[in-house]
Amino acid sequence: MKIALPDGWRLIAKNETVSTNEDVKALPSGSDKVAVCAEIQTGGRGRMGRRWISPKGNLYVSICLDLGGLRQAEIYSFLSAAALACAIEKVCSGIEVKCKWPNDLLVDGRKVSGILLETDGVGRLIVGIGVNIIDCPEEQMLYPVTSLAKCGFRVTREMVLEELLRQFDFWQKRLNDEDGKSAVLNAWKRKAYGIGKKIVVNLPDKREEGTFDGLDNDGYLLLNKGGEIIKVTVGDVFFGSAGRNENG
Ligand code: BTN
Repeated sequence: MKIALPDGWRLIAKNETVSTNEDVKALPSGSDKVAVCAEIQTGGRGRMGRRWISPKGNLYVSICLDLGGLRQAEIYSFLSAAALACAIEKVCSGIEVKCKWPNDLLVDGRKVSGILLETDGVGRLIVGIGVNIIDCPEEQMLYPVTSLAKCGFRVTREMVLEELLRQFDFWQKRLNDEDGKSAVLNAWKRKAYGIGKKIVVNLPDKREEGTFDGLDNDGYLLLNKGGEIIKVTVGDVFFGSAGRNENG
């Protein structure tokens, strides 16, 4: 794979692998700004222990960041989603990408991309990104799905990856500014899907219903339950009061 990389970045391109997140975990310590991508994953993983079916044609990439003790790790969920949304909008002229909390991307209300953030034992953050370029495997997906091709955009995974790394590098540098964290959260909020809408949140131990009131300054989802505000740190969000019906 031949793409232009931002200064200081390295790309390892594979034909087939189990999971690019696992490949990144096997990189030597000190690896930073290294991206591993593969044409096919045989054991691609999604959030909450789910599978990420990974046929040829889509983008599967994991970014290794050495944040020096995982400083600001949580904000990378929003940084990654905002950077990817900007990248897709750049290469697919006229598309409208929405960010669904915490880090899914939607086009026409359907999931086009998923992000899996993990840490390893040596203080690195792994940002695993899957983008449906051509195919949109339905199996095991909780939400309606789509692909860029289905939405009418003929782009390659190379085009999306090159712009993604450029945007990622830009937002990472922006994060170092004094107002960097709020700039990243605002970039995400500008593209937020469904603020003010009814949502159901499946928390690890229970299910809560209310209105999506936006984010707090740390990126927690604010769920308004008849005036009581609940801060959600982890969960699956469904729009529409019945839960799983309206869209992802
Ligand atoms: C989700 O559940 O929405 C997150 C999906 C993340 C998939 C990507 S594809 C590249 C990287 N390697 C993996 O095994 N998973 C992530």
